[in-house]
Amino acid sequence: MKTQAAVLWEVGTKWEIEDIELDDPQPGEVRVKLAASGLCHSDDHAVKGDLPTGLPIVGGHEGAGIVEEVGAGVTRLKPGDHVLLTFMPACGHCRWCASGKSMLCDYGAKIMDGMPIVDGKPRKHARGQGLASVSLLGTFSPYTVVHQDSCVKIDDDLPLDLASLVGCGVATGYGAAVNQAKVEPGDTVVVVGTGGVGSSAVQGARIAGAQHIVAVDPVPFRREQAELLGATHSVASMEEAMPLVQELTRGVMADRTIMTASLLTGDMLMPLMLLTRKGGRACLTSTANPNVTNADVVLVDVVFSQKEIVGNVYGGCNPHADLPRLLELYRKGDLKLAELVTKRYRLDQINEGYDDLLAGRIMRGLIEF
Ligand SMILES: NC(=O)c1ccc[n+]([C@@H]2O[C@H](COP(=O)([O-])OP(=O)(O)OC[C@H]3O[C@@H](n4cnc5c(N)ncnc54)[C@H](O)[C@@H]3O)[C@@H](O)[C@H]2O)c1
Ligand SMILES: [Zn+2]
Ligand SMILES: [Zn+2]
Repeated sequence: MKTQAAVLWEVGTKWEIEDIELDDPQPGEVRVKLAASGLCHSDDHAVKGDLPTGLPIVGGHEGAGIVEEVGAGVTRLKPGDHVLLTFMPACGHCRWCASGKSMLCDYGAKIMDGMPIVDGKPRKHARGQGLASVSLLGTFSPYTVVHQDSCVKIDDDLPLDLASLVGCGVATGYGAAVNQAKVEPGDTVVVVGTGGVGSSAVQGARIAGAQHIVAVDPVPFRREQAELLGATHSVASMEEAMPLVQELTRGVMADRTIMTASLLTGDMLMPLMLLTRKGGRACLTSTANPNVTNADVVLVDVVFSQKEIVGNVYGGCNPHADLPRLLELYRKGDLKLAELVTKRYRLDQINEGYDDLLAGRIMRGLIEF
């Protein structure tokens, strides 16, 4: 079929709206009519070259929609099913999936080149070339063809536009606090960078029962929004957070720190670890450029203060188990989703959406189809 998509042709250029040819679903695949796509910062890392991806590529990895057509051998989905797309496919039987760590599924190796799991051949074409899809999804398009392992079936009554945010930013941030940092009742938590992911970490910390949640962000609007979502305090930088956290904890410092700023650089680890108490845990969530191999840290402090540094992909979530649970928290009113969406855009306004995101004028932007 013919449709449109926002395509990145080269690093350092803008998203371009293209007429594309979308192939029929192959065995194991489904065609999804998308309702909406969130604008996550990670797609901009592909634009800037901080996150190397196959090119040309259809952007977008936060999407939800309705299955229209299924390929041969699809057993878990049928036309009409509502699905949330997961940016990490879960095969269900690799060592990691089988041990409850689907966020590390071996299919993850395929998401950077963005070509289909089944045969590595493109399903999308424009200007005579095959197109990759970000995270094997490519949600900056009204339609996509994805493997059934990239789909999580959700209840029909959930709003698909808001559900789409759970496909990346919300799950990653919530899980940063709950699964990776393992926030406990009464904790003091510092979240550095409160955009879509960080503000979801703030919500995770609130739901886990944190006593103090300090939002750190240079942008005043992001700090205000973080406070509406559960932050008890907010400051503009990690340096400013230092005396505040000292005062709040009588010098003990934060039980958990969570790094969700736009891009992680080597100089950001030291202040993060100094904000973390002895025996505490720092969770690194932000994307870092793969060429960065050095970071500043007081090694002896990490050793003798027995501090932990933990990574985070997808909030440590098992998509099929955890994404529906997050949507239940939304239904109950604990997890706020509508409040994350500052502005809605048409597909052809995507560059405007990213300009707004990078300037901190919006929390999450949503492309509606
Ligand atoms: N690990 C994962 O699985 C995963 C998943 C999704 C996104 N990410 C990454 O998480 C990061 C955040 O994504 P997002 O969509 O929330 O981005 P965003 O642009 O919405 O938010 C980032 C925030 O960080 C703030 N910031 C920048 N530098 C800062 C600093 N030095 N100190 C404090 N705050 C600072 C910005 O003002 C902004 O508010 C990105 O690097 C993204 O690629 C990781
Ligand atoms: Zn994302
Ligand atoms: Zn797997």
